[in-house]
Amino acid sequence: MKADVEKVALVTGAYRGIGLEVVRQLAERGFAVVLTARDPRKAWTAALPLAGEGLNVIPLKLDVTDAESVAEAARFVEGRFGRLDVLVNNAAILYDDWQRAATADLETVREAFETNTLGAWRVAQAFIPLLRKSRHGRLVNVSSESGSLAMMRGGTPAYSVSKVALNALTRMLADELKANRILVNSVCPGWVATEMGGPDAPRTPAEGAASVVWAATLLDDGPTGGFFRDGKPLAR
Ligand SMILES: NC(=O)c1ccc[n+]([C@@H]2O[C@H](COP(=O)([O-])OP(=O)(O)OC[C@H]3O[C@@H](n4cnc5c(N)ncnc54)[C@H](OP(=O)(O)O)[C@@H]3O)[C@@H](O)[C@H]2O)c1
Repeated sequence: MKADVEKVALVTGAYRGIGLEVVRQLAERGFAVVLTARDPRKAWTAALPLAGEGLNVIPLKLDVTDAESVAEAARFVEGRFGRLDVLVNNAAILYDDWQRAATADLETVREAFETNTLGAWRVAQAFIPLLRKSRHGRLVNVSSESGSLAMMRGGTPAYSVSKVALNALTRMLADELKANRILVNSVCPGWVATEMGGPDAPRTPAEGAASVVWAATLLDDGPTGGFFRDGKPLAR
């Protein structure tokens, strides 16, 4: 028997930082939220206090670079809920501010792609069949202004190119999933004080997460294929 919940969301890389805040904010809006992390103990440790507050948060192992782990997570959600309403591709690595494109270590570039682009793509492919079973499917790719071609300058080559490609994926999926009424958007959370953003960032994880949650909770006539921060379009 499937759990009878109104709305189901899954967030990748969600045991800390912006992902954890996205989990909290979606759960506070009444979602059952699958909080995933590649280390299952970290998922459990993060989920426990939220569940203690009465929020419907379910910890789960999911490594976006591991096809079997992704498939296993999709089987879990299928078995438990029979569908997915919101997928947030949040996991990312390698803000390589020590590199320049002219001299970048291409193995590092490959590594960034494996998580930031192919990871999100792999997770999207696994969960699209479950999003199709939702009446209000939403797919949010957490991107960055570093992935804007219009604003592109030198620096952070691995990260920036991986996010440009993620934004391209957003547009393709948006077009392909229009027929299923699934809204697919890229979101920049702004510069946020997390492990990736560093302590000097002006935004809190909660503020960054709100930018993501906006796209996760769009009404049916909301935009698709766009790139936003705080609900406002960004230059692509
Ligand atoms: N912070 C900013 O200023 C900023 C600005 C623009 C965009 N963003 C974007 O916002 C999102 C969240 O970033 P954040 O600042 O919250 O970063 P963060 O604190 O470094 O969190 C990144 C999360 O991704 C997870 N992750 C990495 N590789 C993974 C994998 N293979 N499978 C599953 N999870 C994996 C990490 O877990 P592990 O500990 O297991 O690695 C961690 O939980 C990212 O997409 C980032 O690019 C952030």
